[in-house]
Amino acid sequence: MTPFDAATHADPYDYYSRLRQQNGLLFDEDLRVWIASSANAVEAILGHPDCRVRPLNEAVPPAIAQSSAGVIFGRLMRMNEGPQHLCPRQAIEPALNSIGTENIADVVSHVAEALDNPGENLDELMFTLPVCVIATLIGIPSSQQQDVAKLTRDFVACLSPLSNDIQLGIANDAATRLSQLFSELLGNADEATHFLSHLLSGCEAIGWIDQKALIANLIGLLSQTCEATAGLIGNTLVALHRQPELVEDIRATPLLVADLVAEVARYDSPVQNTRRFVAKRCMIGDTVLEAGDTVLVLLASANRDPFVNPNPDSFLLKRTQRRTVSFGAGRHKCPGQQLALAIAAETILAWLRRKPASSIRSLRWRYLASLNGRIPLFHRDRETYE
Ligand code: HEM
Repeated sequence: MTPFDAATHADPYDYYSRLRQQNGLLFDEDLRVWIASSANAVEAILGHPDCRVRPLNEAVPPAIAQSSAGVIFGRLMRMNEGPQHLCPRQAIEPALNSIGTENIADVVSHVAEALDNPGENLDELMFTLPVCVIATLIGIPSSQQQDVAKLTRDFVACLSPLSNDIQLGIANDAATRLSQLFSELLGNADEATHFLSHLLSGCEAIGWIDQKALIANLIGLLSQTCEATAGLIGNTLVALHRQPELVEDIRATPLLVADLVAEVARYDSPVQNTRRFVAKRCMIGDTVLEAGDTVLVLLASANRDPFVNPNPDSFLLKRTQRRTVSFGAGRHKCPGQQLALAIAAETILAWLRRKPASSIRSLRWRYLASLNGRIPLFHRDRETYE
């Protein structure tokens, strides 16, 4: 197995455990990359200033460099270091934190009402609902939200190295359309939602005036939400399928759903790995990394490291001092973590309200092709990866 196969393998966790036992940071001669698998190595790499999010001479992947999708990509905080990372982050993070997660239940219920049978249609529940929730918070009118969710799903194809030319073309059209929609939205700033007003005042307070970068990073909020939150919702349904007794526990005590999604995020992370590129020779523990090296950072393995989570392979709702790096660490740590957990929790409750307890047993799935995401796609046929 390679770490890329592991992301969508039925059970990658033995493989991760063997990697950790071999060495928390080791060089893979075949892949020509470093693999960080222990919690220590993962946190050290993510915290190191010389381990960057993009290769030194490749701000944007060549396949999209000349396109509208590439222009958006090149402005995302997620894909930048220095001021192009810091300015959007300083404006957006406090605005995201200002959204009380207690309001998310209402937004999720409202969005779920407008969707096409979200009890039956798990694709809508996992991919469309979370993006519509973020679109609502940003202020996209409800009449446009489902289009925006579709465009976002098209756009995220440009983030995957597995996408073909047709998907990249569609991602490009989506990038153009989303940019227009956000440009119109910012033109009507008098009607801004709580989140958007907070964000615009934040931009003003730090003197960051770059409308194009702001639009790119608003698109970034939708695209960062899309597949990762779908994966968290999907992996929670997988956990319930494997432990159906939990369905009754959650129905009896709905507040437990927060513990459920938090433990799923640790136990079966929707984002299994991320990458870093070494800009300058540096030391991680007693290992020297050279400029130009690539590090594959196994977030899902770090979550199962017994040094940070005792008894890591047990699924424990009431785990004490749970440590999770599924949302990253260091300067690029996910600013949407609390929001994502709240959306996933409320979505699971919305699904449980619509379905009988027994329906969890009939779920069948395979994983969406990906080198880093673990996102189950549910279906009714024989083909399963349980
Ligand atoms: C279960 C859902 C989610 C997971 C597992 C997740 C995971 C992550 C991870 C691992 C990173 C860091 C990547 C790296 O350092 O290489 C990240 C960054 C980011 N996430 Fe999330 N995310 C989720 C949902 C969200 C949501 C709902 C939002 C916003 C509404 C969001 C916004 C962002 C942004 C803007 C960044 C880039 C931050 C930076 O570069 O400073 N994410 N996310």
